[in-house]
Amino acid sequence: MSHAPDLIDLRSDTVTKPTDEMRKAMAEAEVGDDRYGEDPTVRRLEELYAELVGKEAALYLPSGTMANQVALRSWTSPGGVVLAGKNQHLVQFERAGAAKNSNIQFGLIRETDGELRADDLIEELQLQVHFGLEVSLVCIENTHMPSGGRPWKIDHLEELKAAIGTIPLHMDGARLFNASIATGIKPSEYASLVDSVMSCVSKGLSAPIGSILAGSEEFIARARTERQILGGQMRQAGVIAAAGIVALETMVDRLAEDHRRAKLLASAVADRYPECGLDPNAVETNIVVFEHKDPSSFLNYLRGNDILAGTISPGKIRLVTHKDLDDSSVEQALRAISHAP
Ligand SMILES: Cc1ncc(COP(=O)(O)O)c(C=O)c1O
Repeated sequence: MSHAPDLIDLRSDTVTKPTDEMRKAMAEAEVGDDRYGEDPTVRRLEELYAELVGKEAALYLPSGTMANQVALRSWTSPGGVVLAGKNQHLVQFERAGAAKNSNIQFGLIRETDGELRADDLIEELQLQVHFGLEVSLVCIENTHMPSGGRPWKIDHLEELKAAIGTIPLHMDGARLFNASIATGIKPSEYASLVDSVMSCVSKGLSAPIGSILAGSEEFIARARTERQILGGQMRQAGVIAAAGIVALETMVDRLAEDHRRAKLLASAVADRYPECGLDPNAVETNIVVFEHKDPSSFLNYLRGNDILAGTISPGKIRLVTHKDLDDSSVEQALRAISHAP
């Protein structure tokens, strides 16, 4: 469905369109058959991301979901247990892909401000060991979307890493660059505490397609095979990877603008619905999540004001800021929220 251009789309940062520079880079991209390692543009994107996160190697994939699924398949064997936060994308939003693709079961951990706390993790680990189960992997999400895009605190990640010892740690960093811009912690600093990390260039960074998974050379070799098994091996993918390079090189710093606007939206929501439990000070990146007693009437009201938004679970509204909004569209949204019934 195509929308009239003047609709203010707060559903997701995935709605962002590629920039002119991306389109030019795509048109001019040098390409080859990536099955034979002959696409120089894909290779450049993989090297660029690996360097940004301080890992030996990286792999370009069609989506963040596939990057997570490939990571799960690469780290686990059937029957293994993966510990993860109960609302993380790879638990709740990937259509039980982990069960289907990797035959693993999750040990679910409660999330506190979007993080897994070391004490909670140790308790779950002890439980799994008690039952004689093998914990193959721990997964975290940074930023954590369902908690309103919360970035991880680095000392909490250090504590978690210390608690899990030698069990591999995977970071779903779909919005790692948002976390980095909000906290000042470099992507490589976050990634130094995990064994694999993936980020999407197709969200706030505005590339049309793609995510990148990074880790050791050995891990990425396994991931390459698993990507092929899931049907994600691509050929002259340089035409899309070219936009990913522009995304990583030119679109990271401007995320601060999205974060500033999300805080404005959060303040308007908190003023209008003081009972909704939203603290604007806790909105550090580009996502605003809050409870509403009648989400469909609120969304219809917004739609009547040319604003699109969505829900992430029953009773929970989400507003997301991104490049294809400007101050005047955000002001229009602020006015609409302040007059919402
Ligand atoms: C935290 C997180 N991880 C993974 C994904 C999956 O990315 P994709 O939509 O490219 O499959 C998303 C998508 O919204 C996400 O928010």
